Amino acid sequence: MKSSAVKDPSSWEIVALSSAVAGEPKAIRCNGADYVLFRDESRHLRALVDQCAHRRAPLSLGKIVGGVIECPYHGWRYDGSGACVSIPNLAEGKRVPRNYRVAAIEVVEDDGFIYLLAPQEPPSSGPSSPKLPGNWQPFDASREIESLVAYPGDQLMDVISEMPSAFLKVGSVRILDDLPFGDPVQTRDSIDLEFAADPFSRRKLAKVRADFPLRLTLSAARHLNIVDIAVAGDDGMSLARAHLAITPATAGLCVVHLRCLDGTYGGRPLGIDIRPHPDAMLVRSIKPFASILRRDAAPIHSATAQ
Ligand code: FES
Repeated sequence: MKSSAVKDPSSWEIVALSSAVAGEPKAIRCNGADYVLFRDESRHLRALVDQCAHRRAPLSLGKIVGGVIECPYHGWRYDGSGACVSIPNLAEGKRVPRNYRVAAIEVVEDDGFIYLLAPQEPPSSGPSSPKLPGNWQPFDASREIESLVAYPGDQLMDVISEMPSAFLKVGSVRILDDLPFGDPVQTRDSIDLEFAADPFSRRKLAKVRADFPLRLTLSAARHLNIVDIAVAGDDGMSLARAHLAITPATAGLCVVHLRCLDGTYGGRPLGIDIRPHPDAMLVRSIKPFASILRRDAAPIHSATAQ
């Protein structure tokens, strides 16, 4: 197979040598999930989730019979598409129901290696369904933005938490990354931080933290790639708010989704945004090998603040 068969190398994982998959099923683990590799009757490589649809026995402990894989437990057989094609002792004249199947995974061979298009690693712990931290206040967004960011999704949340001003822009307000208010507070659902913030209109920076009239609060959900961001006055009242979610797309690339509730401060509009160009110097000061190549931003929705 030609190299071009591997469409986007960054989204594939090399999981085995081609020579390692011959007449027997081969078990592999990739991104925390288990798969079985085998060859069908035409010697084409196949990959299935390594779990029988019947009682979840590992198919990799079974055998290959006529190009299909047979479960070691009760003998159900699956073809390369994951469809169950035979069940021992099925009543005569009965057909295997169509929904009896296991998931097939895209797999290719190139230059002696096997590439698997692995789904993302499932969370090893945490809630079984997506759930925002209970103390987050829902809001009707006045703006929504979707942006492609040339930065690894699994690192972007760290950067936003450690150095918010590298990626975030808050109207005419300066975020003071090096002036956090206390240590991060860890709760069951989130990790919460607070930074001093100052209107650019003030001529000089205050010398004492308590002198800063604004603060930026970040609450990063523990089990989801989403952070609640708020700019608050010294009375603790929220002036502007945003929820920023990150989808890791491929290695080095993620999509940022931002829902904002804009406000005002001192008669001026106040909104939370992603910088048109991330501050590479700042990012590299905490992630020295960060690759920041390009960013596209496109407002996809705009509505009047509620
Ligand atoms: S567990 Fe596979 S056939 Fe029963």
